[in-house]
Amino acid sequence: MDVVEILMVDHLSIRMLIKCGLTRMGVDEFSSLHGFIVNCHARIEDDLVFPVLKKHYMDSYEEYAKLVEWIGNDHRLLETLGNKTISYGIDKDWINYRRRLNLYFKILVEHNLREEVEIFPNWLNEIDRETRRKYTAKAKEIIEEYGLEKYTRLTGFSSEAFKII
Ligand SMILES: [Fe+2]
Ligand SMILES: [Fe+2]
Repeated sequence: MDVVEILMVDHLSIRMLIKCGLTRMGVDEFSSLHGFIVNCHARIEDDLVFPVLKKHYMDSYEEYAKLVEWIGNDHRLLETLGNKTISYGIDKDWINYRRRLNLYFKILVEHNLREEVEIFPNWLNEIDRETRRKYTAKAKEIIEEYGLEKYTRLTGFSSEAFKII
């Protein structure tokens, strides 16, 4: 499995969680999902996939390299917004908590879709197989560092399946 296919499985899991009423979730559940986004999912994109794409396109198609940078900036926005949402939850300010939570999911879903339309196809079509293989192995290391138990619980990916991808 390629790193962007792993990322698409993450996106699918996030969509399913939202369908199952994630937007009504409590602060502890949201905290663990936000931790997964920041410390695992977005980290794989920010540290591995996006830099490779930016470097690849920097000379031949600078506008695209800038687009990758711009989409990556959503991660900073989501990190700040998620942290703020959690602090409203800790303060039991439920009106602001729900408002920020809904906004967080709206931005996240739109962001994920943009990655699927504008980022992942270029990775699969333009980056050579050897580089993709190397970066997929690095992505698995990030997942293991984040914690395979937490990863499988949030995404629904089984640890058995993870061993063979
Ligand atoms: Fe992302
Ligand atoms: Fe993503």
